[in-house]
Amino acid sequence: MKPVILDVDTGLDDACALLLAARHPELDLRAVTCVGGNVGLDDVVINTLTVLEAAGRTDVPVGRGAALPLLQPMRTAPHVHGVDGLGDLEWPRSTRSPSTTPAVELLREVLLDAAAKGEPITLIPLAPLTNIALLLRTYPEAAAGLREIVFMGGAAGIGNATASAEFNIWTDPEAAAIMLAAAGELAVPVTMYGLDVFYDVVVTLEQARGLSGSPAAELARKLIEKRSELYGAEGASIGDGGAVCAVIDPDGLTTQRFPLRVELGGSWSRGRTIVDTRDWSTDRTSDPHGVSPTVVEVATAVEGSRYAELWLDAVR
Ligand code: BDR
Ligand code: CA
Repeated sequence: MKPVILDVDTGLDDACALLLAARHPELDLRAVTCVGGNVGLDDVVINTLTVLEAAGRTDVPVGRGAALPLLQPMRTAPHVHGVDGLGDLEWPRSTRSPSTTPAVELLREVLLDAAAKGEPITLIPLAPLTNIALLLRTYPEAAAGLREIVFMGGAAGIGNATASAEFNIWTDPEAAAIMLAAAGELAVPVTMYGLDVFYDVVVTLEQARGLSGSPAAELARKLIEKRSELYGAEGASIGDGGAVCAVIDPDGLTTQRFPLRVELGGSWSRGRTIVDTRDWSTDRTSDPHGVSPTVVEVATAVEGSRYAELWLDAVR
């Protein structure tokens, strides 16, 4: 089994990802950490506990993390995820409490334990990277327990929060830049599962209507129905869930290695991920300001129906 940790801002599509990670037989979900993003942190924590309960996984520790981005004000996305972040579904909300250990300390604990056991973990951030930046700068030794980071965020092409920037990076650009720099320094391999593939793993309404018979399946169906309704379509992408599919079944994803930077200035481009695809330049990994970019695997194509089937099989 592959040990994983999810960092989430649950979120309808984070919920799709959580159901998959909680239910897939090849994944060992060691912890989930929460960060403010799609909704405020209190709702993120409740939604995360709610989804794990539906998946029958009250054993998984849930850590409460950063409520706000490092530098800028919080901007949430109720138009994409509903006021409560979980589509305002008719679904009982969890009344449980998260772990008394805060997110960054929980990450440190679980990663050091994994390092001691020689079972390095795949960290899957699906949200603004605030918790991960704080972790890697506060406890760099925890990187010994990391096998890799596969994050949802960014885009080589167009953004969604703005024409330039993808929501998770736009929400906390400094955190994304710190995560990338630290991963480079600590030699942690990074894969960017960005908007170039994010919308391509689609579950149709017809497929979703076949989901029933367990709380996980019922919730999965409602998530797809709600996302379809919000997008006005006959189906919906599982969004963040695709990044978890990529960890389970990496052969369904095409990636290419490129230097990656985050735009921290810009009038209209703040939060943009700049994927340096130039093949004629000899100095793509050096920088006129002396800061070398981290080279990462950038997802460029995905086998959408293969991942949709993988998700359906696990949550059904
Ligand atoms: C990302 O932003 C959030 O709204 C989604 O949960 C996903 O992580 C997509 O840009
Ligand atoms: Ca998310």
